[in-house]
Amino acid sequence: MEAQRGQWGSKIGFILAGAGAAIGLGNIWRFSYVAGENGGAAFVLTYLIFVIFFGIPLIIAEIAIGRKTQKNPVGAFTSIKNTKFWKFVGYFAVLTNIGILSFYSVIAGWTFGYIFKMLSGDAFGYQSFVSNPYFEIGLFAIFLIFTAGIVYGGVEKGIEKWSKILMPLLILIMIFLIIYANFLEGSSKGLEFYLKPDFSKITPKVILSAIGQAMFSLSLGMGLMITYGSYLSKKENIFVSGTTIALLDTAIAIMAGFIIFPALFSMGGNPQAGPALVFEVLPKLFMGMPGGQIVGAFFFVLLSIAALTSTISMLEVPVAFFVDEKKISRKKIVLYATIFTFFMGLPSALSQGTVEIFTNFGLLPASICSADFLSHMNFIFGDFAVVLGALFASVFVGWVWGIKSATEEISEGSKNFKKIAFLWGFFIKYIIPIVITLILIRLFGVI
Ligand code: PHE
Repeated sequence: MEAQRGQWGSKIGFILAGAGAAIGLGNIWRFSYVAGENGGAAFVLTYLIFVIFFGIPLIIAEIAIGRKTQKNPVGAFTSIKNTKFWKFVGYFAVLTNIGILSFYSVIAGWTFGYIFKMLSGDAFGYQSFVSNPYFEIGLFAIFLIFTAGIVYGGVEKGIEKWSKILMPLLILIMIFLIIYANFLEGSSKGLEFYLKPDFSKITPKVILSAIGQAMFSLSLGMGLMITYGSYLSKKENIFVSGTTIALLDTAIAIMAGFIIFPALFSMGGNPQAGPALVFEVLPKLFMGMPGGQIVGAFFFVLLSIAALTSTISMLEVPVAFFVDEKKISRKKIVLYATIFTFFMGLPSALSQGTVEIFTNFGLLPASICSADFLSHMNFIFGDFAVVLGALFASVFVGWVWGIKSATEEISEGSKNFKKIAFLWGFFIKYIIPIVITLILIRLFGVI
């Protein structure tokens, strides 16, 4: 990430930063459990379809809005169409980032805690770990402080440098784990669950979860790619960089599934374990291998860093907004936003068996999400808000800014884009808004 209104140093710098924001717990923790809950292969297939037909067109669209306007989401929408509604849409995007950050940092705190759990050799006892208020609040707070410290000090450059080394390492460990997990006895049942779709399992809820997961994982529908695109120079190829980020991100999620499900089925576990899934499966996998304590601890180090590059980007959106539009100093707003996020995240941190009302929150029906507060936040911000945000972004580009003007912007730096622009425009203007609207109507029927 670059300083205010700076520019990415190079094409690869933008791709790495974009991938850093996109790749995180969403690819490993969230993807695995959502796929497990929604029937495995049927979900995976639906998710892939939405990455290709919704994710790629939208990531291009959002980066283009950002590069055109050189602004944070609120400034970006209103500088093209200055109405109350589009201002509200910008605010909604800013709020979505804070909402996601609040519960995401709780899970990131678990990831961080598991480094020490692995090292201590006591890698099990997930339930007692997540229901311990000292661990929960402590780790959550530590993770938020890391995030705030980096955004506050503006040492994002350092993080970018680390990511260049550490993310390839994460991929290497994952490849090793894929091989290891698929040699375990009984693992082929897991592969079948992951790869052999049962089409009768594709329900409106599965479709919504698949769109939500595609948006969440690519950091779309929340103004993030607008903010990142605002630092991009006109020379860069939006089409190529956007597509590369999307494909990298998706590849990592798909790889995670090739670890989790074979391992899970060889252990006789339940794919419906919810947010607990990877925290129950992975430690068992590590503890079963020679040197697994160290490999496991190292894996959780890498995952924590992947989470950190995502939380930094989430905090950057509200910070960019307040600095640009409200002229508040960067340091002040980092502090306020962090404190606000901490209180917003507390109920999530205490919702895994620590405090009864948050554990059995149950505002939404069980067919939509689990009873705990964290799952509610995950659904409301991580699925519903980002899908709604994606609807806004597509309507904005398709109907307000206009496909023609957007195509002009994208074509700067990618001459060949004009050849496929009509197809891209067709999805942005018609397919995406119509499909999302239908899904949301169905969803409200259920609620
Ligand atoms: N895309 C990130 C992930 O998959 C999460 C994220 C959401 C990052 C919102 C930034 C903004 O982990």
